[in-house]
Amino acid sequence: MVKPLTRAVFPVAGLGTRFLPATKASPKEMLPIVDKPLIQYAAEEAIAAGIDELIFVTGRNKRSIEDHFDKAYELETELEAKGKNGLLDMVRTVLPHNVSCVYIRQAEPLGLGHAVLCAKQVVGNEPFAVILADDLISAEPKALQQMVDLYEHYRCSVVGVQNVAREETSAYGIVRGTKVADRLYKMEAIVEKPKPEAAPSTMGVVGRYLLTPRVFALLEKVQRGAGGEIQLTDGIAALLRYEAIYAYEFSGKRYDCGNKLGYLQATVEYALAHPELHRDFRAYLKSLKL
Ligand code: G1P
Repeated sequence: MVKPLTRAVFPVAGLGTRFLPATKASPKEMLPIVDKPLIQYAAEEAIAAGIDELIFVTGRNKRSIEDHFDKAYELETELEAKGKNGLLDMVRTVLPHNVSCVYIRQAEPLGLGHAVLCAKQVVGNEPFAVILADDLISAEPKALQQMVDLYEHYRCSVVGVQNVAREETSAYGIVRGTKVADRLYKMEAIVEKPKPEAAPSTMGVVGRYLLTPRVFALLEKVQRGAGGEIQLTDGIAALLRYEAIYAYEFSGKRYDCGNKLGYLQATVEYALAHPELHRDFRAYLKSLKL
């Protein structure tokens, strides 16, 4: 039996500059897709994959993430008094009772690799997941679950990837690998944000990682890389010298909610699938006669 993965790290200290002024005082991870903030979709994906400890690496202006996953006494009392039991239940079950949250402050925005390193003490010597909440993935089974299934089989780090346009490689970690099974590649190289002409492939890393704890010691030695930041990709490249790593082209649709167009696409498609809204929303879209 492989020991189950129980911990997921959510780096949420980024400044969210692409959504200013919306993200001036509140985190981009709290932007809603229809009626749920991005961070809740990410937490639900982790929990569905069996994770019961959520580790948030936060920064300034991220208080609302802690509040979102905390008990909301005033709101609950109010809803209870008004007999709004459906809403009360929704507010109370934002997280199942067996799930706990840990918050770690990343004092300086030194990069994704540094954010993950901040979780080292809490994660300990266990494999763990990293989820970037602005990569919203609609899939069944959920993307992280698909990766956990692979992890349990191969017992190696697994990185989620998808094919990206050649002209977009400089927005992603790019992987080169050999295909070993359907959707699965044994990683040979990984490089952060290469220019299209230098990219070893068009297989782009999407914000889902299952990593072995050895990556922490390697991240401690990683120098500033692309964008002057300590990159998780560079830590993974170092890990590749010691361990096999797989790149997995998950099945499902990914929305890049870190940019406005991707965010709007997710909003439209999730609204079209929303049990209460879909009919009215579809009728509304049709009425626009675009
Ligand atoms: C980060 C990673 C990058 C990855 C991307 C996925 O970049 O550094 O390797 O491909 O997330 O969304 P960011 O989008 O934070 O610049």
